[in-house]
Amino acid sequence: MTGLKMTKLSSNENCYGCSQMARDAILLNYQDAHLYPELHPHALKEQLAQKYGVRSRNIVLGAGSVGIINNLILSFVGNGEEVLTFENSFIAYGQLSHIHNHSCHFAPLADLSCDPVNLMSYINDKTKLIFIANPNNPTGTIITHAQLQAFLESVPERIVVVIDEAYAEYVTDPSFPNSVNLQARHSNLVILHSFSKIYGLAGLRIGFAIAENDIAAELTHCQIPFSLNYLSYHAASCALEDTRFIDDSAGRNDIQRKYLETEFRRMGYNTIATQSNFIYLWFDTDAEKVKVYDILLSNRIIICDLKVFGQELALRITIGDQETNTRIIELLS
Ligand SMILES: Cc1ncc(COP(=O)(O)O)c(C=O)c1O
Repeated sequence: MTGLKMTKLSSNENCYGCSQMARDAILLNYQDAHLYPELHPHALKEQLAQKYGVRSRNIVLGAGSVGIINNLILSFVGNGEEVLTFENSFIAYGQLSHIHNHSCHFAPLADLSCDPVNLMSYINDKTKLIFIANPNNPTGTIITHAQLQAFLESVPERIVVVIDEAYAEYVTDPSFPNSVNLQARHSNLVILHSFSKIYGLAGLRIGFAIAENDIAAELTHCQIPFSLNYLSYHAASCALEDTRFIDDSAGRNDIQRKYLETEFRRMGYNTIATQSNFIYLWFDTDAEKVKVYDILLSNRIIICDLKVFGQELALRITIGDQETNTRIIELLS
């Protein structure tokens, strides 16, 4: 039956699974699944606060970082007010804004990255919330500390700026922002993190935000009671502790993304250096794109057709392990 297994490279999960320590925590705690979870898991909040050098009251946990994105929109965008983000970026920002009946505007990328300068001409009196994915999904590019700092210095303080760092642990570029430092001077900055990517816990749905006191209190206030499940925060706590697993995943990913980038370029594909665990390809025609998608699909490898992001001529491939990547290159050569 193993011959029928699909290799899923469409949602940027960790191809190496999750930490054994997190698995053990799941097995140990599932027997207590008849109990309600803690309303605000203090131990995990404290652990995160120590890791990031903030207070535990500045940590907000959520059912995935999309749960927190939803609560940010719910809490900070009123009737007639607007959300701003980038086109060719994470789709949940626009989707959730529309679910809550808010307009969401989309600034263009610059060289496939979320250059905040491009946001400036879209800001108006109604703008309340800005989302910047860093690294950007689906292009894998980053903005630097200097770019984010300059933006925070020029954007009105009444606007909440969200920097979504779901893939931060994969970044090796030293110019990546130290967002916690920036938050100390810009209290309107909210930092988002996910346990779904390098921590390998996508199925358990847990993410967190780091936010200034009032923003954190507001986000906590609008949470659905018990929305965090019992297994998620026990597993997350162990996943955080297992730094060997994280370093190993990041190291292997770095080797594999360099391999894919080099090989795709050698074969003449359009691609861009990625700081994440996925790689972006774009094509001149639909036929070329569909050909790549179909070759991989017929070999049981499922990747993301970025039609869902509104891009007709691009694909995103989650970076798999060495064996998978060698196979992809062989198939597309
Ligand atoms: C930029 C970005 N933010 C957030 C998320 C959602 O993460 P979570 O699983 O924590 O809701 C994703 C998932 O793909 C993402 O790409």
